[in-house]
Amino acid sequence: MLSETHTKARGLADLPPVTNDSLLALIAMAEADPRPDKIDVGVGVFRDAAGNTPILKVMKEAERRLLDTQVTKAYLGSAGDKRFAELLRPVLLGEHASDDRIAGLQTPGGCGALRLGFELIRTANPGARVLLGTPSWPNHAPIIRSVGLDIVEYPYYERGQAAIRFEDMLAEISKGIPGDVVLLHGCCHNPTGADLNPVQWAEVTDVCRERGLIPLVDIAYQGFGRGLDEDAAGLRGILSQCDEVIIAQSCDKNFSVYRDRVGSLFVKTGSVETTATAMAHVFQRSREMWSMPPDHGAAAAHIILDDPELRARWLVELTGMRDRINSVRQRIAAADPRLAFIGQQLGMFSMLPLSKEQVLKLRADQAIYMADSGRFNVVGMGDEQIDRFTAAVVEALDG
Ligand SMILES: Cc1ncc(COP(=O)(O)O)c(C=O)c1O
Repeated sequence: MLSETHTKARGLADLPPVTNDSLLALIAMAEADPRPDKIDVGVGVFRDAAGNTPILKVMKEAERRLLDTQVTKAYLGSAGDKRFAELLRPVLLGEHASDDRIAGLQTPGGCGALRLGFELIRTANPGARVLLGTPSWPNHAPIIRSVGLDIVEYPYYERGQAAIRFEDMLAEISKGIPGDVVLLHGCCHNPTGADLNPVQWAEVTDVCRERGLIPLVDIAYQGFGRGLDEDAAGLRGILSQCDEVIIAQSCDKNFSVYRDRVGSLFVKTGSVETTATAMAHVFQRSREMWSMPPDHGAAAAHIILDDPELRARWLVELTGMRDRINSVRQRIAAADPRLAFIGQQLGMFSMLPLSKEQVLKLRADQAIYMADSGRFNVVGMGDEQIDRFTAAVVEALDG
């Protein structure tokens, strides 16, 4: 006999409503605001002094070369552009680039890499739990849950103190059981801008190694903090100490190709054989989900990384983006002692000590758009908007 659920017709009309991704909703709200002096610091892209997100000059040149030289658009296979992943190794892994227990492939952005990394974990150990800091990038938890893994939160940052809750973090991850995954931000923590210092990285690394936890390092902003090597130092320390490590990497920000979806996943295991087995699973999952990643952005990044002159030009433009982030940070920090912490943090994001009501009031009265949490993009605005922004924030802090 058919059960109740089988006899009752069910279709797309039965779908439950979806709560919107609040950051995407915020971008739409800012776009719809007709006030000419509006400031959108909710958005997650780098903007230059004029308030634009230009295509890097070196990327335009690489795209021209790609157009001139590409002779086929035949499939590449689920690994995507293999040379791209090879060229990334020294940039990302540094002294570990030649470790053949580490293998990688191109993915559709950092999101694709995260999804694939968690798919691999679930395949190996469906009972693994993911230790996730609070707060974290709002898309982490949905990606982890979509794979079917459980999340255990660890405290990461105290907004009121503008400080990492390191002792609490360490105590919580020390309760992890072998096979659990610890999600860490490689650099430029989103949303807080607060990165672990070298001593803290070493302590977290020790806990992972001693307790058999698998670090999954999400590195989406390499080069936006202190420099390419400096920003990867924590990750490289982990690679020195831990046998099993997963790295979800994005080039979308440091090559400024957000919509082209350029990223990679790297996997380290204890042996070349185990890595080969892990990668066979990774290729399988990648084949099921997107068959192969989009080619264009990675092909252009490949051209840049493969040519010493273009690579040097990329480094200059990347340094320019980093210098702007850090100089805007200093300018905001200098406006008021209560904002001084912003000058010590790294990357595009920091969190202002504002209540949700204050954030909503800034939106309504001043057309200043930031996430309800007070997270804002320090380079979400052009130079001429910074003074108005800081004045409005200081006024809000004064109450
Ligand atoms: C911490 C973090 N990880 C991953 C990503 C995803 O990057 P992508 O756009 O390459 O998918 C982002 C993007 O905002 C991010 O902030």
